[in-house]
Amino acid sequence: MQIAITASRPADVGCLIFPIGKGATISPAIEAQALAAEAAAASRFTGEAGAIVELFVREAGKTVRVLLVGTGEGALADLEKAGGAISARLQTSGVVHAAVDGAGLAPALLARIGLGAQLRAWRIDTYRTKLPEKSKPTLETLTLVHDSAELSSLMDDLKAVAQGVAFTRELVAEPGNIIYPESFVERCRHLVDHGIEISVLDETDMANLGMGALLGVAQGSVRKPRMIAMRWDGSGGAQAKPLVLVGKGVTFDTGGISLKPGAGMEDMKWDMGGAGAVAGAMKALALRKAPAHVVGICGLVENMPDGGAQRPGDIVKTMSGQTVEVLNTDAEGRLVLCDAIWWAQQTYKPETVIDLATLTGAMLISLGSEHGGLFSNDDGLANQLLSAGQESGDKLWRFPLSPAYDKLIDSPIADMKNIGPRFAGSITAAQFIKRYVQDGVKWAHLDIAGMVWADKPGATWEKGATGYGVRLLDQLIRDHYQAG
Ligand code: BES
Ligand code: MN
Ligand code: ZN
Repeated sequence: MQIAITASRPADVGCLIFPIGKGATISPAIEAQALAAEAAAASRFTGEAGAIVELFVREAGKTVRVLLVGTGEGALADLEKAGGAISARLQTSGVVHAAVDGAGLAPALLARIGLGAQLRAWRIDTYRTKLPEKSKPTLETLTLVHDSAELSSLMDDLKAVAQGVAFTRELVAEPGNIIYPESFVERCRHLVDHGIEISVLDETDMANLGMGALLGVAQGSVRKPRMIAMRWDGSGGAQAKPLVLVGKGVTFDTGGISLKPGAGMEDMKWDMGGAGAVAGAMKALALRKAPAHVVGICGLVENMPDGGAQRPGDIVKTMSGQTVEVLNTDAEGRLVLCDAIWWAQQTYKPETVIDLATLTGAMLISLGSEHGGLFSNDDGLANQLLSAGQESGDKLWRFPLSPAYDKLIDSPIADMKNIGPRFAGSITAAQFIKRYVQDGVKWAHLDIAGMVWADKPGATWEKGATGYGVRLLDQLIRDHYQAG
């Protein structure tokens, strides 16, 4: 589905859409205005965000579908919700071209309808060879009708973000036999065409660098690990040091020798959701030519239990020189991140590092799917992230860190163990990563285990991959990390 923009209502549209604010009078610009108002009243429609009344009217001698769409209080999120509702309603409705009458809306608000619609229309039909005709998407264009010079640049900017989200969803939704470390890298290659510089470490490079923790996880799989770094510098040299983003990219997590139970294991195809969010955010930044210097790094491995796999009790040496007793091979994300984060700091000397990871099941127990967990050694950075979460809708909730929690991962035989006791599992995981953050570096860890996959549709996503994290990072960078 494409979003188009025109100054006046296009002739051949199968559906006319009228945004209606909460409690507003219903007087759409159609012949059958009274009918629309009665239909709204009969449906008890009062303009709640995302609510829809659908009717058919005669307009200029033709039968036309009309949607009244509630825009609630008119907040950005309300308009996105309205856009999402439009897509959900029309995508497979038979309507091919639809137009939104944006006359009553400020361009920035109308563009949010476009964004919501674009986000909600994303789907993956790659593997559906027998989709019934009636379930196939029909909606090709949604035209925003508004006489405004700025709408199209506003929309282009938001389209960049939507394309970043779409890329993340694609990476997350693809199964483990399709997306593995090497193929993840290949899917990222097109970013070069948008001005991103890509460098990749293979197994030999990582061995030479001493990434024993990441390699220990990878050694049970026939899929070779990779580390990808995607650099975007839109600051024109103004920002010498990049903001560094690091994603956990476990392309499938069986648990390794500490094998997970079978039920639900298929979910672990999305254990690369942090890496997916980083890749999608990089795409959004490049497409909107963000005036910022950002490097996105993904540690990519598959966690499998073959004869070469690491054993519980094995001791590995990380790139930092610190040693880890691997008591549970299913606590593999931190083993990947510790080497990725160390390498990121050695290579890019950043002031700020943010990692994103589907790190702990405990995060689902504490926050469900409403907030990602935030851990940080810096209140300023934490607050920036919390507000970017509020603005973008990719919400976060902060958790504590402290020496008392840190002590829980001391090991009797190595520098640390990779698991703590049963309780506070998300915090001890964060404490583990913290041991790899160098002095003076501002760091935030986002445990997004509950956020990357949805069991039910939301305002701007279908069931499945949500693309969580892209909008959060994009918003954070807009607010605080752009030059000038
Ligand atoms: N990828 C999982 C965490 C996860 C679980 C994400 C469920 C999303 C949904 C991670 O690698 C893991 O297995 N963590 C273990 C850690 C434990 C062994 C300390 C967990 O949370 O059970
Ligand atoms: Mn695991
Ligand atoms: Zn995992």
